[in-house]
Amino acid sequence: MNDDNSRGALLSALRDLVAAGPVGARLPSVRELQRHFQVSPLTVQQAVRQLNGEGLVDVRPGAGTFVAAAPPTTRSADLGWQHVALGGHAPPDASRTLALHAEPGAGVVRLAGGYLDQTLVPEKPLSAALARAVRRTGAWGRAPVEGIESLRQLFAREIGGVDAADVLITSGGQSALSIAIRALTRPGDAVVLETPTYAGFISIARSHALEVHPVPTDADGLRTDVLDRVLASSGARLVVVQPLHANPTGSTLAAGRRRELLALARSYGAFVLEDDYARDLTIDGPAPSTLVSQDVDGHVVHVRSLSKPVAPALRVAALVARGPALNRLRAAKTLDDFYVSRPLQEAAVDFLSSPAAGRHRRTVARELGARRDTLLSEVRARLAGASVDTVPGGGMHLWVRLPDGVDDVDLAARARGAGVLVSAGSAWFPTEPDASYLRLTYGETPVPLLVEGVRRLATVLVG
Ligand SMILES: Cc1ncc(COP(=O)(O)O)c(C=O)c1O
Repeated sequence: MNDDNSRGALLSALRDLVAAGPVGARLPSVRELQRHFQVSPLTVQQAVRQLNGEGLVDVRPGAGTFVAAAPPTTRSADLGWQHVALGGHAPPDASRTLALHAEPGAGVVRLAGGYLDQTLVPEKPLSAALARAVRRTGAWGRAPVEGIESLRQLFAREIGGVDAADVLITSGGQSALSIAIRALTRPGDAVVLETPTYAGFISIARSHALEVHPVPTDADGLRTDVLDRVLASSGARLVVVQPLHANPTGSTLAAGRRRELLALARSYGAFVLEDDYARDLTIDGPAPSTLVSQDVDGHVVHVRSLSKPVAPALRVAALVARGPALNRLRAAKTLDDFYVSRPLQEAAVDFLSSPAAGRHRRTVARELGARRDTLLSEVRARLAGASVDTVPGGGMHLWVRLPDGVDDVDLAARARGAGVLVSAGSAWFPTEPDASYLRLTYGETPVPLLVEGVRRLATVLVG
């Protein structure tokens, strides 16, 4: 008998014993089982562990293994009581955000998502950094609630104009944004969102029962002339913006508008939440400096994450604020998750301070540039009637306006059927879309597949 056969025979014999034996009956010892089934002690231990995991046996160290008190039944669960317990109020709306994590099936080309694909993730240097991090004494101990000092310093230097003491480390940008929006508002408050904007903001605002006031954007980013009127009429004290390579439009806030935005924040006494998700995904540099680096009086709350520019699993981000706002954010963060796993923070510092980080940035900029240019030229050549108004200087998305009369949701569904995953534009509007769009992502897809993806999309656009 090979190992698998003997383990199988052992498992089925043990299951028979459990089924036959009264609750609490002692099973034969490891040595007896080993002798009887001619298997190694490891095989016996693995079998016992499996049955223990299934709840069939209790293992009492030093005493033996016993038939478990209540073997689980196979009846299907009756979960109806949960509807009553949870009540009738509206559930949190995460549908837009969940859609971003949809996995394409085999053979489907992905023109959706929002992370670098595996070919661009610096796996070797990151794994080496993590291996070094876990070898350090105290690696598995607690970390400070605010994050480890070396990482806070590193983020402060990169962001510019802020101190390490202003930086909180969070588990990814999404968590930082959710903490900030919830901590800086109360349910029912007004909040200003760009339109269109990152679908995650819309989900967070709706889940926190905020009243969303959309302000349009154009090729120069947020329309600050409209923002002035909206701040006056809505009473909103929080404006959420992406000033650099915005998702989904790709626009960057123009220099004059940056000044106007900061001036408006000062005159209305409002917070600006700056989501700087794409700084390290800049293709045509240099990128303008951060808004927070130009803010003296604590109006700008800043978020910068590593999971997009480095690796989806590096869920580490910085949340920056000053004054009482920082205290509120720290409190909200502590209630959410205490602190971010120390080895992950140490690995981030190790990687970011190594020459591999610079090499990675250059590779990403070069490859994203090639992908953007390919996607743009393929869209322009093959998607009749579609147009791209803004060529993004960075980030990973192209915002494509569809010909009049084409429904984005219907097109995205048909595209999936034809083997290409795209995002319907309407999910990116907090209220009614002003036209029909698709968001096509080039960050997750190497050049040859981009070409194939647009070819498939073209077949459903004409069909
Ligand atoms: C504009 C923008 N900001 C923030 C995030 C959050 O990303 P993460 O939590 O991976 O940092 C996303 C993710 O898609 C995004 O598109």
